[in-house]
Amino acid sequence: MCERVIGPADMKILGIETSCDETAVGIVEDGRRLRSNVIASQTALHSVHGGVVPEVASRQHIKDIVPAVEQALADSGSNLQDVDAVAVTHGPGLAGALITGLNTAKAIAFGLNVPLIGVNHLEGHIYASWLSHANPEEDPGFPLACLVASGGHTDLLLMEGHGRYELVGRTRDDAAGEAFDKAARILGLSFPGGPEIQRVSQGAKGLQRLPRAWMKDTLDFSFSGLKTATLHLAQEQGVYPPGSGGHNPDELADLVREIASAFQESVVEVISTKLLHMAEKYHARGLILGGGVTANARLRQEIARISPLPVIIPPPVLCTDNGAMIAACAYFQYKRGHRSGLELDIDPGLPLG
Ligand code: KG4
Ligand code: ZN
Repeated sequence: MCERVIGPADMKILGIETSCDETAVGIVEDGRRLRSNVIASQTALHSVHGGVVPEVASRQHIKDIVPAVEQALADSGSNLQDVDAVAVTHGPGLAGALITGLNTAKAIAFGLNVPLIGVNHLEGHIYASWLSHANPEEDPGFPLACLVASGGHTDLLLMEGHGRYELVGRTRDDAAGEAFDKAARILGLSFPGGPEIQRVSQGAKGLQRLPRAWMKDTLDFSFSGLKTATLHLAQEQGVYPPGSGGHNPDELADLVREIASAFQESVVEVISTKLLHMAEKYHARGLILGGGVTANARLRQEIARISPLPVIIPPPVLCTDNGAMIAACAYFQYKRGHRSGLELDIDPGLPLG
């Protein structure tokens, strides 16, 4: 296909993200200027099931994708013809969910005769920081110690330059976000669990403590033991199964607050300590964070408190899944000459680093 020629200035990329349960479309200029960011969340649909149901997610993406594209264009004051390239998450994620985003992106790119750029979802989370007026490649400069903590990943990556990553630590079982979601379920809180645990933990007195899995001296994580310990504590306190302790609503709220906070403190301490160890070990010049769990206020506060290095974290709305981060990431790929062909396929297990 013969592409439309694009000038170097003001490149407008439409980014599409459908890897899980958000149908998200964003428009970004030159990889940094956020023009629109539409997120059609499926949370209400999945919360009745206590987690994302892949089949339900796939079908909802089909319904939401075209209105989300139209809304993103309208919000940015653009027409489809103004789009210079189309970026799309092609992995990792749920297969049936990724397909809708990818096929929509291909159709738009083909129709407009503009480049299609496939983006790794995890790399997109890292590039959300470029949207928050930060310029990490200059201030503080590479290498950067990256944390990507989401519903499916808890990865420590050394970012040596644009598009250059070394995976140096990861979870050996549950991801941090998954652990938040499971702990919330044990405590009778709704899905997604992370924001709920954060909300109910406020005002906790620190009466409970849950274990930390340090995994010896490695940079790897494990959260499944913490989930089990949370379950046992909830059982001991008569919080789980629901109604088992005969508590009145105020007593129950106090117990839930303390257990939720103990859980959150354990995750926050392990993640922040390991991220700092990694930064020191690899002589990083700064920290860069992304993924839904990095929206967590306690985690952000603790990392900022203990880090001697500059910490770059997007605002919470750009930590969770969005299309703008995909567009931002694609811009830097485009500048390196990267283009995807229309044969681009989804890759549910796509690695980074
Ligand atoms: O990055 P993300 O939006 O989607 C995936 O790529 O998975 O991350 C979703 C995860 C969920 O597990 C959710 O509970 C968690 O991020 N999360 C949080 C917070 N907001 C979202 N975890 C802790 N604290 C939060 N404030
Ligand atoms: Zn994500």
